Amino acid sequence: MFSLYYFTVLLLSVCAGEDVINNRRFPPDFIFSVGTSAYQVEGGWNEDGKSPSIWDTTVHNNPAFIEDSSNGDIACDSYHKIEEDVANLKELGVTHYRFSIAWTRIFPNGIGEVNEAGVAYYKKLIKELKNNGISPFVTIFHWDIPQALQDMGGILNSSFVSWYSDYARECFKRFGDDVDYWITFNEPQQVCTGGYGYGYFPPAVKSEGLLEYFCVSQVVKSHAKAWHIYDSEFRSKQNGKVSITLDTGAFLPASNSSADEEAADRMLHFTLGVYANPIYVGDFPEVVKSRVAARSAAEGRNQSRLPELTPEEIDYIRGTHDFFGLNVYSASVAQAMEDPPVQNPPSKWQDQAVTTSMPSDWESTSQQFTKVVPWTVRSLLNWIKNTYNNPGIIITENGYPSKGDKDDRRLYYIRGYLSYIRDTMIEDGVSVLGYTVWSFMDNFEWTSGYTQKYGLYEVDFSSPNRTRTIRPSGEFYRKVTQTRCLVDNCVD
Ligand SMILES: *[C@@H]1O[C@H](CO)[C@@H](O)[C@H](O)[C@H]1NC(C)=O
Ligand SMILES: *[C@@H]1O[C@H](CO)[C@@H](O)[C@H](O)[C@H]1NC(C)=O
Ligand SMILES: *[C@@H]1O[C@H](CO)[C@@H](O)[C@H](O)[C@H]1NC(C)=O
Ligand SMILES: *[C@@H]1O[C@H](CO)[C@@H](O)[C@H](O)[C@H]1NC(C)=O
Repeated sequence: MFSLYYFTVLLLSVCAGEDVINNRRFPPDFIFSVGTSAYQVEGGWNEDGKSPSIWDTTVHNNPAFIEDSSNGDIACDSYHKIEEDVANLKELGVTHYRFSIAWTRIFPNGIGEVNEAGVAYYKKLIKELKNNGISPFVTIFHWDIPQALQDMGGILNSSFVSWYSDYARECFKRFGDDVDYWITFNEPQQVCTGGYGYGYFPPAVKSEGLLEYFCVSQVVKSHAKAWHIYDSEFRSKQNGKVSITLDTGAFLPASNSSADEEAADRMLHFTLGVYANPIYVGDFPEVVKSRVAARSAAEGRNQSRLPELTPEEIDYIRGTHDFFGLNVYSASVAQAMEDPPVQNPPSKWQDQAVTTSMPSDWESTSQQFTKVVPWTVRSLLNWIKNTYNNPGIIITENGYPSKGDKDDRRLYYIRGYLSYIRDTMIEDGVSVLGYTVWSFMDNFEWTSGYTQKYGLYEVDFSSPNRTRTIRPSGEFYRKVTQTRCLVDNCVD
């Protein structure tokens, strides 16, 4: 069904010779947002009692970890630019602003004593947003675990679940009266596969298919505990929504053979499903459980490398969501492959047994893993609808990287995604509640440093003022937020 759709869309867009942009207005309560995260924009890395996170220590101790040997010590200097940033958000006309709280500002030791100066910074930001009619959309954890906790094993310590949920409770308690939307974890796949699988992100542990999976179980347990805390202690008076943000590309089957269709499905279960299934359905996806268990046994292990959830844990984690946060940037083609021979060390790649690729005729960007394929979002949104019982989806990130040029392609990309999202809402009945551009402004793009630009605002990192200048794509987005539509002649 998906591949049929894939061919139909391809055919239609080839025949039309251009993209047909949806002209129907988005619903009045649709969320139009832009996103950032604390370490990428704030700077002020050691100010007012903030302690180092694993990103601070990595960039300081090992500058070569970052492409341009840069760091986030100052970044966009947003720590000192609340008024300016909120004025720009107001200019964009967004309904919400997605930002994250730095754990290290609230609890410099990770646990224990609260740092009131850190609380005051976010209180001030939230107040300024609300005074300007913008609703805060807050990420509790966006990769910057306190170094103090990393020194005690970080996310792998069984105590992490209570460290994290105590921190989340403090966030709800201090800020929850003014926050409608919370995200517990941003892109845990990057934390677990990046941090404990391939090791391309701090703490750079390489343990594919082992600690990588253990990390997954820690994330879903921690998320669930934070959600339950909100549900039982805060929901009745704060009335907000709490969920998790997961990242994946779309996966298109290489052919309409059932083997390739299963391969595309399997990729989604290994990237998205390992987090989503416990939360939206219950337990890890069957295909992941059975494949990892079988290969683990063949490797001579006495238990699966994917931790087993107890029936009590399955029940506790199931249903801990109020929406579905999705970060999507691109897509790949998935092709079935023979199961690789059992070998040590194991890897998630072997467990998946899928070959992925990006066709050379898809438009490239400055990031190898991002090609411009807005039409692929439709199959992904439908997959989420069908697999997780049509949860309200909020696109919490979508954006176009460049080296500072090609802003016209950024505009094309954002308009294209929004158009296919609107098509999917109308024609397939998929519930999409909001959309977020990554990013509000150019910022410290993790291991790419300042070499990759995603901003609707350009930031001049050579100026001490970190001067922000709106790009044409930002002007376009402002028009979208004002008209709730993508073209000049809108239809309700
Ligand atoms: C895990 O955390 C506990 C405190 O909750 C600590 O006593 C223990 O040493 C930590 N484990 C490791 C491996 O650091
Ligand atoms: C794949 O599509 C072609 C053309 O529509 C069709 O002839 C063929 O039977 C399909 N194969 C499968 C396995 O569905
Ligand atoms: C499984 O094997 C590990 C060592 O590889 C051992 O520590 C553990 O006790 C074994 N568990 C069971 C249930 O046999
Ligand atoms: C920085 O901003 C201040 C105040 O707006 C201005 O006076 C100054 O010229 C700016 N400096 C640069 C280098 O842009």
